Amino acid sequence: MGKTFYIETFGCQMNVHDSEKMSGTLKSEGYSEADNPEDADLIVFNTCSIREKAEQKFFSRLGRFKLLKKRNPRLKIAIAGCIAQQEGDKILHRTPYIDFVLGPQNIHLIGKLVTMRSHVVSCEENPLIAKANYRIDRKDHIKALVTIMYGCNNFCSYCVVPYTRGHEKSRPSTNILAEIEGLVREGFKEVTLLGQNVNSYRSDLDFTGLLRNINEIEGLERIRFVTSHPKDLSDDLIAAMHDLEKVCEHIHLPLQSGSSRVLKLMNRHYSFTGYMKKIESLRRAIPSIAITTDIIAGFPQEREEDHEWTIRALKEFEYDGIFAFNYSPRPGTKAATLTDHVDDAVKSRRLGEILDLQNSITDRKNKDLEGTIQEILLETETAGENTSLLTGRTRTNKIVNIPADGKAGPSDVVSVKIIKAKRHSFQGKII
Ligand code: 5AD
Ligand code: SF4
Repeated sequence: MGKTFYIETFGCQMNVHDSEKMSGTLKSEGYSEADNPEDADLIVFNTCSIREKAEQKFFSRLGRFKLLKKRNPRLKIAIAGCIAQQEGDKILHRTPYIDFVLGPQNIHLIGKLVTMRSHVVSCEENPLIAKANYRIDRKDHIKALVTIMYGCNNFCSYCVVPYTRGHEKSRPSTNILAEIEGLVREGFKEVTLLGQNVNSYRSDLDFTGLLRNINEIEGLERIRFVTSHPKDLSDDLIAAMHDLEKVCEHIHLPLQSGSSRVLKLMNRHYSFTGYMKKIESLRRAIPSIAITTDIIAGFPQEREEDHEWTIRALKEFEYDGIFAFNYSPRPGTKAATLTDHVDDAVKSRRLGEILDLQNSITDRKNKDLEGTIQEILLETETAGENTSLLTGRTRTNKIVNIPADGKAGPSDVVSVKIIKAKRHSFQGKII
């Protein structure tokens, strides 16, 4: 019997995609995937350290694997991802039953590491990362994640990513285009281009040049991208989003705070007004655009009036959805060293106000979509008692459930009338 692996993933789409790369690499080295960790010879935890809670979640999960290792001494455990990069060999002291520590820039080594003796730590910056072409074991066969750049140069004062994922490095456009052409030949319909700050993509092309080239790929239906930094969102990109029919009408544009004073402390390089102008340009060029954002509640030195600016921003920008979290101090970041941290109770109260307000905005905006006709790319079909249920997304990235009509199925693009809005999804009918 050959060796088997099991990967557990925490965190963002970047990590989800890194896990697809590790899985592809391991399979090419002769491993096969186990259905559960108990049956695996190698368990990989692909970890996230964006907030303390994400870290705690992983460590409490890891604790349960100590016993598994005792029962099966042949079992190897690898820690990959952002906690691995952040902690390096410290993690081996804290949890000595771990065998390998692998930073996000070194995941290509996974196939080699496991043939080595235990306690290997590989967290060096990888200058060649953007040139690598991975074997990628994608679980989805309609939508694909495609890395266009690695790392981040922004150093937002709260964020670990520049430390865990290193400096920005863009992939050559020829590699990206070849990858997407290959995906389309395999039947994929949608790509999501991944980068910490896609607007600073630079190879022989800039980001809009890349989009224009991808838009030419025949057979591809939809192009999405994450994440855009407001400071780098150019008029050129807005024009490209307007011009290119495959680029979906959705942008995730993290605001973080509505207060220009706090934005400065966060090292974000834009003000409330500057951000507002970007939103205005986006909506002028693409009236149906959906805009989503990230908010941090209770950044150090955030006063009540700063919080009020965030509330005002939510009212003014009417986002389609938000991800909001309490500020969490991260080791090694500038913000963690600031004075006057906000009390946990105050943070949570502010976060509650932010989420309550946004829920009412989302409900109202969703209701407005009832009766409209939307283009849906169908993604899955689940059998029900009498009929089966199709699920897909609008171009604006909203989830719609639709009773099957016996004709359309996953990977088809259909016109759907929105019948009923819920908070996180819609019910629709094929027309
Ligand atoms: N505390 C809370 N939220 C954070 N984020 C990043 N770092 C922190 C932190 N230290 C949030 C930001 C970012 C999203 C991915 O996670 O809002 O956009
Ligand atoms: Fe992704 Fe950031 Fe978490 Fe790393 S720390 S896994 S880049 S969200």
